[in-house]
Amino acid sequence: MPELLFYSFFFFFIFFQFPSSSFTLSDTYFFNCGSTTSLSVDNRTFAADSNSHILSDTSSILLKDPNPPLDSRLDLYKTARVFTRPTSYEFDLQGNGTFVIRFHFYPFSSQGYNLFSAVFNVSVSGFQLLSNFSAQKSSRIHIKEYFLTAGSNKLKISFTPSTQSPSPSFAFVNAIEVFSAPDDLIADKASYVNSSQDYIGLLEQALESVYRINVGGSKITPSNDTVWRTWVPDEEYLFLAQAAKKANPTTQINYENTGVSRYIAPESVYGTAREVNTISNSMPMKFNITWQFPVNSSEKHLVRLHFCDIVSTSSTNQLIFNVYIGSSLAESSLDLSKIRYKSLASPYYEDYMVEPDKAGYINISVEPKEAGKNAILNGVEIMKVYPLRGVVSESNSKKKDRILLIGLSIGGSLALVSVMSVVCLLALKCKKRKEEATTAESTMWSPLPVYGESTYSKTPERTTASPGPHINLGLIMTFAEIQSATNNFDTNMLIGSGGFGDVYKGVLRDGTKVAVKRGKPGCGQGRHEFLAELNVLSKIHHRHLVFLIGYCVEQSEMILVSEFMENGTLKDHLYGKDLSCLSWKQRLQICIGSARGIHYLHTFSAQGIIHRDVKSANILLDENYSAKVADFGLSRAVPSPEHSVVSSAIKGSFGYFDPEYFKRFHLTQKSDVYSFGVVLIEVLCARPVIDLSLPREQVNLAEWALQWQKKGLLMQIIDPRLAGTIHPDSLRKFGETVERCLAEYGVDRPTMGDVLWNLEYALQLQETAMTREPHEDSSVNASEPPLPEFRRLPSSGVKYWERLSGHNE
Ligand SMILES: *[C@@H]1O[C@H](CO)[C@@H](O)[C@H](O)[C@H]1NC(C)=O
Ligand SMILES: *[C@@H]1O[C@H](CO)[C@@H](O)[C@H](O)[C@H]1NC(C)=O
Ligand SMILES: *[C@@H]1O[C@H](CO)[C@@H](O)[C@H](O)[C@H]1NC(C)=O
Ligand SMILES: *[C@@H]1O[C@H](CO)[C@@H](O)[C@H](O)[C@H]1NC(C)=O
Ligand SMILES: *[C@@H]1O[C@H](CO)[C@@H](O)[C@H](O)[C@H]1NC(C)=O
Ligand SMILES: *[C@@H]1O[C@H](CO)[C@@H](O)[C@H](O)[C@H]1NC(C)=O
Ligand SMILES: *[C@@H]1O[C@H](CO)[C@@H](O)[C@H](O)[C@H]1NC(C)=O
Ligand SMILES: *[C@@H]1O[C@H](CO)[C@@H](O)[C@H](O)[C@H]1NC(C)=O
Ligand SMILES: *[C@@H]1O[C@H](CO)[C@@H](O)[C@H](O)[C@H]1NC(C)=O
Repeated sequence: MPELLFYSFFFFFIFFQFPSSSFTLSDTYFFNCGSTTSLSVDNRTFAADSNSHILSDTSSILLKDPNPPLDSRLDLYKTARVFTRPTSYEFDLQGNGTFVIRFHFYPFSSQGYNLFSAVFNVSVSGFQLLSNFSAQKSSRIHIKEYFLTAGSNKLKISFTPSTQSPSPSFAFVNAIEVFSAPDDLIADKASYVNSSQDYIGLLEQALESVYRINVGGSKITPSNDTVWRTWVPDEEYLFLAQAAKKANPTTQINYENTGVSRYIAPESVYGTAREVNTISNSMPMKFNITWQFPVNSSEKHLVRLHFCDIVSTSSTNQLIFNVYIGSSLAESSLDLSKIRYKSLASPYYEDYMVEPDKAGYINISVEPKEAGKNAILNGVEIMKVYPLRGVVSESNSKKKDRILLIGLSIGGSLALVSVMSVVCLLALKCKKRKEEATTAESTMWSPLPVYGESTYSKTPERTTASPGPHINLGLIMTFAEIQSATNNFDTNMLIGSGGFGDVYKGVLRDGTKVAVKRGKPGCGQGRHEFLAELNVLSKIHHRHLVFLIGYCVEQSEMILVSEFMENGTLKDHLYGKDLSCLSWKQRLQICIGSARGIHYLHTFSAQGIIHRDVKSANILLDENYSAKVADFGLSRAVPSPEHSVVSSAIKGSFGYFDPEYFKRFHLTQKSDVYSFGVVLIEVLCARPVIDLSLPREQVNLAEWALQWQKKGLLMQIIDPRLAGTIHPDSLRKFGETVERCLAEYGVDRPTMGDVLWNLEYALQLQETAMTREPHEDSSVNASEPPLPEFRRLPSSGVKYWERLSGHNE
């Protein structure tokens, strides 16, 4: 029995000492990924990988299987770590030999992450071991095992989510094992089957286990193997089962003086075998026992065959046989009793370098030398050989590919329909999955401390719209009061229609102009939004957020009364309505005002609030064209000072969706930043964010504009009415800001505070440039160098600003 010594080093090191060998396993790292607790499995401690310094990026997500496997042997698979962007584990190594690396993947679905749909790459020390890996095929548990030399005293395991269509994905892993392999486990050379030469240089390659077969035996689980391998029975691969029979082992396996250790294969492998099935003793026949292994025909493979004579008795000399791999003779007249050792039941193995045949098979046959003789095989291992190190560049963290809005890039209204159906499906699915969460949402009165956690599962659904304790009761208005203010909801007073109802202009008795938002009676979805909005509005107070004057919840009515905004929506001033054109300075000021409002929301209370529906139609302008952000129906409290929350259903407006949120239900303040980036571009170009009447590549404004921005030609698509009025430096700053807001991953986007700062700077550039150089013409070809001050300010201000303003702004 192994004697366990436990060292607590920087992380932890476990050394195993097996009495049969002086070998100690070192550099052992076992991680229970995505978990906060360690777990003991097969005499190993899988440590929690949380909060440790081995992860390059702390934004990865811990996921728990809501329906974990009941079998306690599968406890490792109850959690997973999810990576939404390239992330590495990196740790120190003492040894310089071969390492065994195992990844455990057990997909499940939780918190909007469907791990079955994850697509990603995994590379280790320069070898790309998994390409476009997806854990959806065949079995539920995927264990990937590799052997490689690290090439340095650090081991770096990188997970890179696919950024390709149909949508950016994420990566995950449930458990990781790393330990130094016993020295003799992998040798540097192997035999070619059709040549007397040897293949040299195996240690320079990475190997991936493809098959590990206990021929004639039963399954061997990691707990029964010396280095936690899994060996499976051979029945499935045996061609013509009648040709062979299981050997009846009679002897103990004798490892002594064989040069073969238990690490190569345990007794349970060498102790079982398949031998020739003598169908008729009176008429001896000669035939092959063949195993067929489908493999990838374009890859080289290392084939290891294990032999141990457990069938002969010392007096007989029956066991002389040929071994074929494919059609090539790998061993001729193999006589185990003569080959190296004198004693029976001595383990022996041989490595072969094999190129599969074109049909994609590695066939292994043993053939008795003569009729009446026997042939045997005890074990087979087949490993895929990876090309030389150095083919993977590990620094592909900044992929340029972006997918703005799923499906819309393929264009046309058909695509829009399909997107909508996907949204509906997802929403339905999530609704079903997270019933408890929806309940919590429907009764949300105060910022939820932990959204969607089981603590809320027992919250009974409220059936009335009576406001909660946090709502200011002084704001209650009577229905009669509102009726009179709106001339009994006169259609002439109608100024807009929102998702949840109509908006009327009204005048209170004291002469105050108000906007009256009346919920459609009986609209269940509207009720949630009404309550959410009431909740947010009653708490916040900011000069760039629409101000709540009162509300009414009489009978089935749900009415919000807020300050009236003389100049309507920003959207109406940009296009569609024939309103006066806003100057660039005005537009910048409007953007700055809105950014201030959203920044206030994001930093409101310790938790912050996410608006979730930032768009030009929700930015209102007062008589002085000062901006106020409105419509908090979808607003949501941020649950934790960290930046992530998994939302139950996609909400928001087409054209403004944060692609990351769309894909992963991953809701953060950065989703608002994305939407705000779309607003900025809308302000510059003055056209709808989605316009299906335009050519395909122009349908999605943000996507289209970003292409121009990246080419440095944003100037070419600005609102023609602004031509010649924007200073190139102001536009450049503005364009950079837009680009960063529209970054694919939330973590790469600036905070609202940073956006605000950049917009103010763009305004400054506009104003000082205009006063200093009134003749300045912002023609397309203007290519003068940036202002000198431009350089002194932090141009990539994200990090800088975040550092100044703290993690949560
Ligand atoms: C684990 O180790 C203990 C002692 O260290 C031993 O008694 C036990 O049999 C081992 N279990 C396995 C599965 O090897
Ligand atoms: C590995 O380390 C051992 C001793 O530490 C040394 O003898 C050996 O040459 C090293 N091998 C390589 C390939 O660096
Ligand atoms: C992985 O997917 C990308 C994008 O779909 C593709 O370009 C690449 O060829 C794929 N690679 C492999 C090895 O399948
Ligand atoms: C994953 O690997 C494939 C094949 O090597 C490559 O084509 C693809 O770009 C990689 N994906 C990422 C996100 O690096
Ligand atoms: C082995 O045979 C294959 C064709 O069957 C050939 O392509 C390969 O080069 C041969 N290998 C050696 C080492 O001769
Ligand atoms: C595996 O180990 C268990 C004890 O841990 C033992 O009872 C069982 O017989 C072993 N199985 C094989 C195939 O050796
Ligand atoms: C066994 O298989 C090999 C390789 O396919 C073949 O060359 C040989 O003739 C076979 N032997 C018998 C007895 O069928
Ligand atoms: C076989 O390997 C090639 C090259 O690595 C790869 O492109 C192909 O997808 C693989 N085929 C299968 C079936 O895995
Ligand atoms: C061996 O491999 C070939 C593919 O090249 C396959 O057609 C054949 O059935 C396999 N089995 C035997 C017993 O030859």
